[in-house]
Formats: sequence, C-alpha cells, structure tokens
Amino acid sequence: MMAVENPITKTVQEEALRKIKLNLTKESRIGEIDFNNLVFGKKYADHMLVADFDGHEWKNAEILPFQHLSVSPSNAAWHYGQAIFEGIKAYKDQDGEPMIFRPYDNYARFNTSAERMGMPTVPEWLFIGGMDLLINADRDWVPSNKGCSLYLRPFMIAADEFIGVKPSDTYKFVIINSPAGPYFNKPIKLLVQDKYIRAFPGGVGYAKAAGNYGGTMYPTMQAKKQGYDQILWVDGLEFKQLQECGTMNVFAIIGNKAITPDLTQGTILAGVTRASVIDILSDMGLTVEERPVSIEEVVTAWKAGTLREVFGTGTASSVAYVEQLDYKEHQIKLDTTKYSVGAEVIERLDAIRTGRAEDTRNWNYKITRL
Ligand SMILES: Cc1ncc(COP(=O)(O)O)c(C=O)c1O
Repeated sequence: MMAVENPITKTVQEEALRKIKLNLTKESRIGEIDFNNLVFGKKYADHMLVADFDGHEWKNAEILPFQHLSVSPSNAAWHYGQAIFEGIKAYKDQDGEPMIFRPYDNYARFNTSAERMGMPTVPEWLFIGGMDLLINADRDWVPSNKGCSLYLRPFMIAADEFIGVKPSDTYKFVIINSPAGPYFNKPIKLLVQDKYIRAFPGGVGYAKAAGNYGGTMYPTMQAKKQGYDQILWVDGLEFKQLQECGTMNVFAIIGNKAITPDLTQGTILAGVTRASVIDILSDMGLTVEERPVSIEEVVTAWKAGTLREVFGTGTASSVAYVEQLDYKEHQIKLDTTKYSVGAEVIERLDAIRTGRAEDTRNWNYKITRL
C-alpha cells in the first residue's frame, strides 16, 4: 500500500530547491557497493549536504560529492564538544520509491538538542528539505533488501576557530548518508551498569549530543570485554531505575503489559522508534506503561516467571531481542525464540516503513521525484 503523501512535502522541497545549491557528482561510486552484504556505517553514498551558520543565518547550503571537511585544529567542536547529531532511516516503498521514516520527529529532537547545547536551531528547508534533495540525488542508494535502509546522519558542529571556552558563533550543518544493513544480527546481552552512569537529571541525557556517547565508551569497552553487547544504564542516585541502552530505549513485556522507562527525568533520549513501538504495542492490545521501571521489578518478574521479553528499540538497531540481562549476581536468561510480541512489533513496524501496511499515522515522508 502506498504511503500517504505528506501535504507539505512539495512546499518544503520547493523551498529547499530555491535555497540549496546542487553540485552533483559525474561519477557515481554505487558500483563499489555490495547491496547483499551491507554492514552498518561503513560506506557512504555519493552525496552530502553542507551549510554554514554565520552567527545570524544559515547559508552556503549545498549538496556536493561526499568528501572530507577542512576544519581548523582550533575548531571549537574538537575542544568543547558542541556537537549534536541525528539518526534517521529511508526505505523503499512497494513501488521502489524512497520514503523517510518520521523525519519530523528527528527534526524536532535535533532542535531540542541544539537548544540544550547552546547551538542555533536549523530551519525545516535545511533539515527536511535537505534530506529530501539528498535522497533525490542518492535515490539508487536506498536499499530494498529486507532489513536494509539508507541511514541518514544529520549533524551540527561548532565552527569557530577559537580556543577559549564560550559558545561558538558559527556552526556547520552536514548530512551524510550510508546504505546500512542490520546493526545487530543476533540477540544481545546487556549488562546493568552499577558503577558508571550515562545521565543525571539536569544534565544533557535527553539531547543527542556527541559527548553523551564519548562518556559511555570506557564502561562499554569494559562490558564488551566481558562478552556484553551494550550497557543498560540506570539512574546515578540509587543505581536502580532503568534508563536506556547505549543506542536504544528498552522495553520489558511482563504478563500482558509492556513497560518502558518514562522520559520525565530528562535523562533518556526520546526515541522515535520507542514512540512508534508504544503505538504499535497499544494497537496489538497490550497495556503500555511509561513510568519508572526498577531493575528489581524486572528481576522479581523473572523469578516469578512473568517476564516474557526484553528488547531494545532504536533507529539503527530496530528491535533488538535481549537474550541475557545481568545485574549484580542475577543472570536473567530469556528464550528469544519465543518472543512473539517483539516479532509482531518488528513485522508491523517494517510493514509500515516499507509501505506494505497502511500508514495510518502519517509516519512516512514520501520523497517526490524532482
Ligand atoms: C542513547 C540512545 N537511546 C535511544 C536511542 C533510540 O532512539 P531512536 O529510536 O530515535 O533511534 C538511540 C538512537 O538514536 C540512542 O543513541
């Protein structure tokens, strides 16, 4: 079934065409890509978008061949971390036409991150319109194989050449895109971290800021050495309330309820997949509770035999089944071959994203051919 066309798509595209210069490649690199063996985040499509914020407005917006950026060693982003990003996926519908999944949600989150980090917001013509024109230029790079997509990575960095601590006046906005296969190709093992934390109320946990990830590298390296795929972060006060994983929000299915940590503390990224999964779970007739979830509640449910499934949700990883969840002396092992809820969520989500099911909530942004 075709996606419902977003009525403002055309207007956004027209404004983008007026404001973004197109400098397209004469030689595509697409022949180098093995679309049957896509790995996540390794190869980039022919084009990228760049734009500059001069302290007052966004200008010099251009789609050009993918290339290195030239950045001064005194660039403020290197030193003080004013850097934010997004992760979005484009799929092909049943007619082979590309669609972006919920780009307006990522657009809103990007500008929320920008505000928290003292950076300028970006206008719709640049973020949404820029992706539209970029996918038009890289249309053939959107994979159609099952589980594959074109991963879009918009980001913004400070651009001042000045090494004093202050918000940068100038910024660079860039979008690159990468044909991507599955992030995890098997069920994952999580460690509930009880020494290091990712975010605290009042901090920047809800922003998709580069530094949030930098701080997780060391504890994650330690966890990986012990055989885990990611950390499941908990609050820093009691080390009990679940937050999220390295690149995913988390859900537990207990009996006929789906529970997931709520966003009120500002410590968790408001996942677009999380929001979609909440709607899909409700459509499936489950009761969904967004509320504080303690690790003890999960352990207790597991001991009582009512913990049916635990899964992570994220744009990169889609829905990742958790087969093992370790917390102190507890080792929760789950049989992911019995994950009927997770399986149906993936199926429904994929069906919407690829136009096989009706897009009743208008999640897909259909790319009108130029
Ligand atoms: C820390 C973190 N939490 C959650 C998510 C899931 O968010 P989304 O579903 O918008 O990709 C991501 C990925 O973007 C993430 O990096």
